[in-house]
This record gives sequence, structure tokens and C-alpha cells, in this order.
Amino acid sequence: MYVREPRHRMTITSGRVLVAGATGGTGRRVLDVLHTSDSEVVVRALTRSPDSESPLRDRGADEVVIGDVMNPDDAARAVADVDAVICALGSSLGLDTLTSDSADGEGTKNLIDAACKAGVEQFVLVSSLGVGDSAPGMPLGLRLLFRGLGVLPAKARAEAHLRDSGLTYTILRPGGLTNADATGDIVVGEGGDTVSGSIPRADVAGLCVASLFTPAATNRTFEVVAQGGLRGTPEGIVEIDWQTAPAAARGGSTVEESESAD
Ligand SMILES: NC(=O)c1ccc[n+]([C@@H]2O[C@H](COP(=O)([O-])OP(=O)(O)OC[C@H]3O[C@@H](n4cnc5c(N)ncnc54)[C@H](OP(=O)(O)O)[C@@H]3O)[C@@H](O)[C@H]2O)c1
Repeated sequence: MYVREPRHRMTITSGRVLVAGATGGTGRRVLDVLHTSDSEVVVRALTRSPDSESPLRDRGADEVVIGDVMNPDDAARAVADVDAVICALGSSLGLDTLTSDSADGEGTKNLIDAACKAGVEQFVLVSSLGVGDSAPGMPLGLRLLFRGLGVLPAKARAEAHLRDSGLTYTILRPGGLTNADATGDIVVGEGGDTVSGSIPRADVAGLCVASLFTPAATNRTFEVVAQGGLRGTPEGIVEIDWQTAPAAARGGSTVEESESAD
């Protein structure tokens, strides 16, 4: 008789993390958080621009892959030997998003497919308030604009693809992004029509990295805004005990396993 192995939840302690979108506003701050964390992860950054390699290394990237996620071969190179992906890709608005052939949609799906093939353990996706059942969290005018430009539908497809992928995932739907300093005071909603407002990119970056170390964030989709950026009355708030890189990781093995609750 075939006996199924018990499911395990994987928690990255060291190993290799790919930051896709590493040159972006949020991605650069993800590099900062990884660089200053207790974790011994090897940080790989992805960019399309060879000119960005040196600045990315200055910012703490140990490895840089030059590639375009619209090309499945580039996506495969980016995730080779990677344990976790933090995906903070964003499309430049324009023809690409209108034709639905964008980094937010097909590009992210390419990265998810490549991650599956490469045996990646965890995938953290920066999506957006306004996607799917979180539509009311984005002001109507913006929602119509970004829906019309194809951004929200593309992100919705990427979210669905990730949920169906079999990868261990966390999806973060931030409100409007700002360049303010991190507050560490985040309101987290779950279930769609929950919170509305803004959040510093630095806080989103912190949550991306914390998601790697937080078993409670496994296979969940969160709407996130900063307490100080809250608009209206929040609903469906959840308390998450966000973890930082475990100190045991200093000198630990590549991946630590802990038994899943389900
Ligand atoms: N702006 C907001 O208020 C807001 C609100 C909620 C959610 N979001 C979402 O949050 C995420 C992060 O936003 P952000 O403003 O911090 O990002 P951003 O500064 O726009 O950076 C976008 C990143 O995506 C990369 N990228 C784009 N196309 C790519 C491709 N084909 N292949 C590889 N890399 C590609 C760029 O890298 P290179 O150019 O170096 O290749 C860049 O690092 C985005 O998904 C955005 O939609 C934004």
C-alpha cells in the first residue's frame, strides 16, 4: 500500500533566496533586510539590466542573474539551486500590461513554473490591494485605472497560478506604497475586503523576509497596510506572529523542517 509521507512545512534558515525585482523600490529594501538579518542565506538578485549588477552587489546581493522573466529560460536560470523566491516584480505601465504580456502576469507565472521545476520550497509574492476579493481596498478611481491597464487582472492570474502551483507560498497584498521608513506597525487583513490605506515599501520588504521564517504565514494571502496609513475601519484583521531569521541559522543547515499543522 502506498503510504503518503507526512506533509512538512519548510522554513528557510540558510540556503539561497532569489529576489526578483531586486532593483525596484521594494526589492532594494528586501536586499537591505536580508543583508542585516541574522540569516546566512545567499542572496541572488534578478535584473534585466547588466548595469545594475554592481549596485546590486553593493546593496548586499551575493549573486546577480541578468535575465527577463518573460523568457522562461531566463526564469529557469534565475531559480536554479534556489530555496526560496521573493517576487517583487512590477510591470512598467504601457503596451505590455495592456496586452497582458507583463511581468505581473506571464512573467510571474514563468517564475512560478520555473520554481516548481527547480524544487523551490517557498515563494513570497508581492501582489496588491485591489486584486481579486480585495478590490474594495483600492479606491475606485485607481481600481478602474489599474484594471483597465490590465495590472490587476494580471496580478490576479499570477496569484491563482501560485495557489495552484503546489509551492509553499505567502501572498502579500500591500496598499499604496510609500518611500517612508519602516514602521513595523502593520495591520494585516485576511479574506479580501479587509483593510485599505498605504504602507511603506520598507515595511513590505520586512514582511517579505519575515514570511520566509513565519510558519503561520504558510499558504495564506494577506492584505497589509501600515497602522499610520489606515483608511476607514478595518475588517477581518488577523494577528500574525511575524518571525525574524532564526538565530540558530547562523551555522545551521540549508533547510530546517518542521511538521505542518495540517
Ligand atoms: N505603487 C504602488 O502603490 C503599489 C501598491 C500595491 C502593490 N504594488 C506592487 O508592488 C510591487 C513592487 O512595486 P515597486 O514600486 O516597489 O516596484 P518597481 O520599483 O516598479 O520595480 C519593479 C521591478 O520589476 C523588475 N522587472 C520588471 N519587469 C521585469 C522583467 N520582465 N524581468 C525581470 N524583472 C523585471 C524591475 O527590474 P529591472 O528593471 O532591473 O529588470 C524592477 O526591479 C509591484 O508588483 C507593484 O505592482 C505597488
